[in-house]
This record gives sequence, C-alpha cells and structure tokens, in this order.
Amino acid sequence: MPTLISKTTSDRPVSMAAESPLLSHKARLPYGGRGDIASSTTIDVRHVTDNDIPEWTRTWSTGYLRTPGEDTADHIREALIGARAIGAFEADRCVGTYRSTTQELTVPGGATLPACTLSKVTVAGTHRRRGLLRRMLDMDMREAGGRGEAVAILDAAEYAIYGRFGFGPAASMAWFTIDVHRAHVDRRQMDDTVGVELVTAAEYRKLASDVYERFRTTQPGALRRDDAWWDQATGLRTSLGSHWVEPYFAVYTSASTGEVDGFVCFTAEEAWQAMQPHSPLLVKDLIALNPAAERALTRYVVKVDWVSTVHLPCRAPDTLAPRWLGDPRAARVTALSDYLWLRILDVPRALSARTYAVDGSLVLKIKDADGYGEGTWLLDGGPQGATCVPTTRPADIVLGVDALAALYLGDDSFTRLAALTSIEEERAGALAVADAMFRTARRPWSPRAATHPEARPC
Ligand SMILES: CC(C)(COP(=O)(O)OP(=O)(O)OC[C@H]1O[C@@H](n2cnc3c(N)ncnc32)[C@H](O)[C@@H]1OP(=O)(O)O)[C@@H](O)C(=O)NCCC(=O)NCCS
Repeated sequence: MPTLISKTTSDRPVSMAAESPLLSHKARLPYGGRGDIASSTTIDVRHVTDNDIPEWTRTWSTGYLRTPGEDTADHIREALIGARAIGAFEADRCVGTYRSTTQELTVPGGATLPACTLSKVTVAGTHRRRGLLRRMLDMDMREAGGRGEAVAILDAAEYAIYGRFGFGPAASMAWFTIDVHRAHVDRRQMDDTVGVELVTAAEYRKLASDVYERFRTTQPGALRRDDAWWDQATGLRTSLGSHWVEPYFAVYTSASTGEVDGFVCFTAEEAWQAMQPHSPLLVKDLIALNPAAERALTRYVVKVDWVSTVHLPCRAPDTLAPRWLGDPRAARVTALSDYLWLRILDVPRALSARTYAVDGSLVLKIKDADGYGEGTWLLDGGPQGATCVPTTRPADIVLGVDALAALYLGDDSFTRLAALTSIEEERAGALAVADAMFRTARRPWSPRAATHPEARPC
C-alpha cells in the first residue's frame, strides 16, 4: 500500500520564514504557538503515514462518538487521498487526529480564495485540555502559508472551541420545517412548478454539477464540489458511516432560456396515520441560480402528494424559501446557527480579494496573538476591487483577527460587533464607513448536503 498522505513523518518545526513573510515573531516560536505544551512534551505531533491509519481511525471514531466498522479504516484511507493528516502520538498510541484539504472559498464580488479546510479534529478524552489541538492546528497553519492558503475554514462542532485560535463565525445556516397543510399552496394548480422534472442519478450528476459550478461564484461562503463529492451525492460512492437511501433527483429548466437553473435532491418516507398520509420529506440539497428556479423547486417539494412535513435543513439564513409559500409562517425555523468558521492567515490578500459595497478607505489595526494577521493595513476598496497594504498611518479601527473573520464575508456589522467585543473606533465615524463598505446584498452561505432533518452539523 503506498503512502498516501505525508511527505514527512517528522514533527520538526517547519521554517515559517520560508513559507510566509507575513508571520510575526510569535508565530515563529519553536513549538509554533502559545499552547501549554509542558504537559504534552512526550507526545509527538506529526504527519500520519499509511501504517498509522487504523490507529488514527480508531481515535477519530471515538472522538466523533462513532463505532468503527470493518471498512472504516479503508474509508478513511480514501478520505485522506489528497489531504493532509496529522496525528498526536504517545508512543504507538494515537491520541489526536486532524485532517485538512485545500478548498476554494467564494468571497463577496465572486473571487475565490485558496482555503485550508479543517476536519476530523479530535483529541482523546484522556488527553484533552493539554494543548494537543493547539499543536496540531499550529503545525498545519504554519504549513498553510507555504501552500498559498490565505484563509482557513471549518464547520465548528461547538461555538467555544475555535475563537481562541483566531477563527470567527463567518456564515450561518437555518433549519426549517414546513407544515404543508398550513402552507396555503394549492396542490391542484401545477403552473407554478412548470420546468421541474425528475431525472436519474446519472443525469442529475451531470446537470447539477454544472449548475453548482455556475452558482458557487455568485454565493459568498460557497465551496468547490469535486467529483468525489458528486459521487457521494449520487450514491456512486458511500460516505463514511452513512446508510445510503436512494434519493429523488429533480432539475428545473427555464422556459425562456432552456437552461437548467436549479436542482433539488430529496428523500421521502411513506407514512400513514388513520388512513391519512403523513409522509415526511427531507430536502438534502437545493440550489437555484435565480428566484424563478428557487420558487418552482420549493413549491414542487411542498406539493409532493402524501407529504405532510417538509424538512429544509442547512439553508441560507436569508433564504427566500418561506416566502414562496402562501403562508410563510408554515415554515418554522427549528434552528439558526453559526456554521462556517473562518481564520484569516493573509490579511492583505484576503481584504484585496473581495469587493466592497461602496468606495471607501480605512486603516485597520489587526491584533493577532498568533502573528499571521498582526499589523496595520490600509484598505482602499469599492465595487470594482480593492487594495490592502501595510501602513504607518494611525488606525481608524482596532480589532482582533477573529472579529475581522466574522465581518469578512458580510455576515455581521462593525457596529454590532463593537457592542459585543473589543473593537475600538479610533476615528469618529469609521465604524459607519466600515459597515457601508463591508455590507453585502445577501448573507453569506456555505451550502452543505444535509443527511438529517434535525439541527446538527450537516
Ligand atoms: C475539541 C477538542 C479537539 C479539543 O482538544 P484539546 O486538545 O482539549 O484542545 P486544546 O487543549 O488544544 O484546547 C485549546 C483551548 O480550547 C479550549 N477548548 C477546547 N475544546 C473546548 C470545548 N469543547 N469547549 C470549551 N473550550 C474548549 C480548551 O479548554 C483550551 O483552552 P485554553 O487555551 O484556555 O487552555 C476535543 O475536546 C475533542 O476531541 N472534542 C470532541 C470532537 C470535536 O468536537 N471536535 C471538533 C470538531 S470541529
């Protein structure tokens, strides 16, 4: 079996100076961070080799409260192709797991940024709170600069974990449950779903992946979906720990252009109570390029015969879905939560990659205890583009790198965060200027394929 993942099995500190000129002295500490490593010096944090995978899988399964099956290590081996896997090892025993891949994150204006995407982060219960997550994360963040990744992102399992590492909640999601009988959508009328047709998994894979590719650069927060992603979504490859139930696939074709402008993937279970149909329908994925496509696809799933409840998990927090119903109150929000967390590693690159709602100029002093974004930056931006360079001018606003992350995609306001955090306005009116510049017409969203109707990580 070839070694799939790592080029090195050493945990020697990587030379950051060679990788990112942006790192400050703090990020160059020999152990690479501020975590208390005194209690974990006998633990080796290093890249994982193929031989480590069964042990690494066991630790990861325990951390995610999953029971590993016979083929779990093989699934993990496959999931680590093209990824970086790090482990914390005490002698031969794995006590920490961490995986990252390189993704493309869409930012306001439609540009994409290379993003280090973290997943499968666990530390054994016996070894928690000894700085092992800090050590694994520090190792990868140091290497991210060399890979050209300007930001790091993850879907945070819990709110409290990642703020201390410079991450901020950058995009949210909403979970809806629609009571079909209250929705005031007339099932006898068919004209509002014209253009929707059911397709096979193979047709869907081709059509939906084309739609998504057109969609993702229009949606700040969206990520790339590769072939492996579509293989899983259409059952060609089963995802780890999931029981595959063949979904229904539908696409929407615009009558005026003949283009496929949207798709939906859903499951439904037959259920009856006292001779009345009570079937729940779960929308796993729904992407629309325009309101007409979103309206037709939403009304299509609400009109499926025998269905009494439609679950719409993992949606954009400002989705139009409820407004396509006769009675929007029939769509109850069951959860509204932070979801995508972001850490800015390269401030000038990130700030100059996005566009701004209005022309403006700001001097931002960024505080970053790990050094990556520390500095004072002059941002000149507008609808056509932006520049961001170091400056010696006095700051207009002083803020932490975690606050900047929460503001970056447009999901929060400077004024609101200033009330909650230690953002300081050094020049009167600067917060209002920043709010006007960073505002986006729609909220950011990072679409995921939902596997469950309840509010839990997608
Ligand atoms: C989250 C997890 C990986 C943290 O590992 P760890 O090695 O204990 O983390 P560290 O010791 O490096 O912790 C760094 C800091 O974060 C804090 N922290 C970590 N997880 C936390 C949590 N769930 N709630 C509150 N604080 C947390 C620690 O207390 C520590 O604080 P300090 O810097 O003030 O000492 C581990 O608890 C775990 O495996 N949890 C279950 C799986 C999980 O949730 N993974 C994350 C998926 S996104």
